[in-house]
Amino acid sequence: MIHLENISVEYRLKSERVQALRNLNLHVREGSFEAIMGPSGSGKTTLIQLIAGLLTPTAGEVIVSGENLSRLGDEKISSFRNRTIGFVFQFFNLPNYYTAVDNAALPLVFAGVDERTRRLRARTLLAEFGLQDRLDHKPDQLSGGEAQRVAIARALINNPKIILADEPTGNLDRDTGGHVMELLQKINRERGVTVLMVTHDEKAAGFAQRIIRIEKGELV
Ligand SMILES: Nc1ncnc2c1ncn2[C@@H]1O[C@H](COP(=O)(O)OP(=O)(O)O)[C@@H](O)[C@H]1O
Ligand SMILES: [Mg+2]
Repeated sequence: MIHLENISVEYRLKSERVQALRNLNLHVREGSFEAIMGPSGSGKTTLIQLIAGLLTPTAGEVIVSGENLSRLGDEKISSFRNRTIGFVFQFFNLPNYYTAVDNAALPLVFAGVDERTRRLRARTLLAEFGLQDRLDHKPDQLSGGEAQRVAIARALINNPKIILADEPTGNLDRDTGGHVMELLQKINRERGVTVLMVTHDEKAAGFAQRIIRIEKGELV
């Protein structure tokens, strides 16, 4: 489902160069749940951004769900991303002026789904995630764990093939983080969604089928 072939990423800031990833190869099978672990600065977010087509590698190929991302133009990349990938972030990234329902429904706006259907699908999914009593709450009226469940609903609402999660438990306490991981695991098992998570939380990584380690831009 995800193939990174001989990937290098070098960031250039004026005279300074940072080699964020070097000669990296990674293959993630469809339907798997994998965790990439590494210390801060090891290149985890860079890796996620490559797979999402948000960043072009300095060298190498990124093939996701059969698409070679370097051969898609900007417009096709956006529609590819909207159809194929759901994101979960450390700080939830939920706009505060939308309710839980409207936040969860957001990707359906870009997919051209009508408002009634959007809200119905968002309500159904949020209720499935135990948030039936929080539908009209704004993000700042939710606990961290509830906010992350809304973010997972948003990631899933468009039936993506892949969920990419960047430190999804990074801002949660242990128990709440565990519940969020159980939810990601359930989504992987019951819906067959491929889940790739980066984290430096050992407990969170323990939910994955495989743990891959990254250090200084290389898999070890
Ligand atoms: N936009 C950028 N410009 C320059 N350097 C960057 C940029 N983004 C990340 N880096 C550098 O690349 C390295 C890897 O960063 P990142 O992928 O964010 O690591 P992680 O997510 O594992 O903490 C770090 O040394 C970081 O400082
Ligand atoms: Mg990061």
